[in-house]
Order: sequence, then structure tokens, then C-alpha cells
Amino acid sequence: MPNLPATEGLDARILAAVQTARQPRPKQVRPIIVIGAGGIVRAAHLPAYEKAGFPVIGLMDQDGAKAAELASGRGISRTFSSVAEAVRFAPTDAIFDVAVPASQLAHILPQFPDGATVLMQKPMGETLQEAIIIRNLCRNKGFIAAVNFSLRYSPNNLVVTSLANGGFLGEIHDIEVQTRTYTPWHLWTFLATAPRLEILYHSIHYFDLIRSWMGNPQSVLARTVRNPHTANLAATKTIAILDYGNSKRVFVATNHNHNFGPERQHSFVQWEGLRGAARIAMGVNLDYPTGKPDTAEYGERGSNSPRWHSLPVGGNNFPDAFMGTMGALQSFAEGSASTLPSHFEDAFQTMALVEALYRSSELPGEPLPLDD
Ligand SMILES: NC(=O)c1ccc[n+]([C@@H]2O[C@H](COP(=O)([O-])OP(=O)(O)OC[C@H]3O[C@@H](n4cnc5c(N)ncnc54)[C@H](O)[C@@H]3O)[C@@H](O)[C@H]2O)c1
Repeated sequence: MPNLPATEGLDARILAAVQTARQPRPKQVRPIIVIGAGGIVRAAHLPAYEKAGFPVIGLMDQDGAKAAELASGRGISRTFSSVAEAVRFAPTDAIFDVAVPASQLAHILPQFPDGATVLMQKPMGETLQEAIIIRNLCRNKGFIAAVNFSLRYSPNNLVVTSLANGGFLGEIHDIEVQTRTYTPWHLWTFLATAPRLEILYHSIHYFDLIRSWMGNPQSVLARTVRNPHTANLAATKTIAILDYGNSKRVFVATNHNHNFGPERQHSFVQWEGLRGAARIAMGVNLDYPTGKPDTAEYGERGSNSPRWHSLPVGGNNFPDAFMGTMGALQSFAEGSASTLPSHFEDAFQTMALVEALYRSSELPGEPLPLDD
């Protein structure tokens, strides 16, 4: 069901283009073993796999009771008390789907057999150093592995991608991402002590999405700062400029501490191209993790009375995008897709971008020339 009906008067060619948006799907589905039984597995992984018909054959968490409770609620027949036990049970074609704090990846991945197919949750480690270790592990063990950059597969981003592929946006020269919301950080107990927070665990999706549209920036400028109301946490507010040269403007601005009711909250990505513009609203950020509906709009240009049109969107980030990240990995693994957009080698470049942003945030800006 579309989240919104298309606006009256929308050009039929545009409607036809956006209706081609599809999640990738393998010809033959493979059994999945999930490692981690936390919030995101409950809210998105399992509902997505159920919707897509991807069989989950086992669940493991270091908290055995949590795994047992979630497995019984979702009809998953096996739980495991260790990764080693899960690996012993896994058939050779199993997909290992890892959704644990990033600091745990380097301990879990070495336990998978050589040549395994692995989907790991973002981020790919907590620092670039950890990302290097994870990348080298994936290389040395010959994994077919991807990072779960789910925003790329959010149905509204797929709609905008179809618009772009249909030529309705033209060359993109402006992207802005703005999130002003109240994020319940306390849901993630591991973030209480995480040295890096907002860019690494949240905006990383935006930076990865921008890379998927524009490639790597030439350089970055960033400030990520703490919120006085959550002074115990690392920085949770960010402003970042990605430099793509003199005729492109790309920035991300986030404030996760806007606890003044929903009226002034927003969360969107907006693209401006030489021929048209697009905007998606990221509903999940406005009432995490329940979410509000995702939307997509198209801004036409060049007519006497340019206007915005709502576009039909066939689902929401949670859970639909998670069908896409898993579907893309399985399609690539079976050979029916020739590329894997969130391959660990590509994800590593997003980690390098994140590292550059944190480094930039430590550097001084230009002082006012008051002594001249
Ligand atoms: N793609 C997305 O949109 C998205 C959204 C939310 C979270 N995430 C990512 O998913 C990961 C998990 O997030 P969450 O919201 O489920 O957190 P959570 O705190 O709710 O759950 C984490 C789970 O991992 C388990 N765990 C920790 N270490 C483990 C280990 N070594 N072995 C087995 N289990 C272990 C914990 O017991 C817990 O159940 C994070 O890395 C986060 O960045 C991604």
C-alpha cells in the first residue's frame, strides 16, 4: 500500500518511473542465522524477513533469555548460547546476520567459517582502526559481506533513485539532510559509554546515502557537539559540510535533543538537480522506533507555476529497507546481481568519511580577524 496517494496532476511518466522502485530480491532465498536479539532485530530485521519470506532458522544473543523470548514470539525454532554453537548448526548456505554493538564485530566475525556470507549492522567498528581490522578479516576469510546501510534501501530513497534514473532530476548539485528530533538514546545502553555517538551511530546513514549519490567528497568540515541535557553522552548534535567543489552544496545538520513536542521536529533529505528536486521525510526518526510514515515528493521546475507533488511510496524504512539490504546481499551471493552496493569495501569508505568528520571536528575554525 502506498503511504500517500500521488498528487493530482502528476505527470504520468513520473508516476510510471517511480512505480519501478523495487527492493532487490534473490531468485532463491537462503536460511538466516541472526546474532543479536536487541531492539533493531525486533523492530526491523525479523518483521522484514517475515514480510519478504526470508527464513530465519536460528537466533543467538549473549543474553540467552532475551534470545529465547524473541525467538518464541517470532516462531524461530532454535536459539544458541554462543556464536560457536550457531556456527556448528549453520548449513553451508546460511547467511550470518549480525546486529550487535559495533565494538563486538571484531570478536564475532573471526568465528564464522571461511567464505561465509555475512550481513553486519552499521557501523563497521567504532573507529577507522577497527574498520581496518574488520575489512582485513572479511578479506582474509573470503567473506561475501555487506554492511546494513538500510537508508539506501528505504522505499522513499528507491523512489527518488527511480526519478533520477528516469532523468527527472538532472545533475544533482545540492543535497541537504536535516534532522531535528528527540532521539531516545537511553534505548541503547551501550551508547552510554560510547566515545563517538551521533555521526558514528546515526548520521552515518546520511553520509553513506550521500556517498551513494555523489561519491566521496574532496574534503569535509564538521562540528559535532554535546547536548547539555545529556552531558554524560558523547556528542549528539552535528553540522557537517561535504565539499564537492565550487558548484555543489551538500550538508548534514542534526539535533537529536529537540524535546519540545512534534510541531517543529523534522527529518528529511532534499535533493536539487538541474531539472527537478526531491525530498523524502524519514518518519522513523520522528517517533523512534514506532515511526511516522515515510514520504517522498517531487519538485518540478521550469513551468510557470512550479510546485511539489507527493509520490506514492510502497513502505517504510522500518522494516521494508531491511528486505533490501538482505535481498541485495543474497542476490549478489547467488550471482543474480553483479554488484553489492553496501559491500564491506564500499562501507569502509563510509567509515573513512566518518573518521574525517570526527577529525575535522577537533580542528580549529577560522578565528575572527579582530587583531588585524
Ligand atoms: N540500520 C539501522 O537502521 C539500525 C537501527 C538501529 C540500530 N542499528 C545497529 O544495530 C546494532 C544493534 O542495535 P540495537 O538497537 O539492536 O541495540 P540493542 O542494545 O537493543 O541490542 C544489542 C544486542 O546485542 C547483544 N550483544 C551484545 N554483544 C553481543 C555479543 N558479543 N554476542 C551476542 N550478542 C551480543 C546484546 O545482548 C543486545 O541484545 C548497533 O550496531 C546499531 O548501530 C542499525
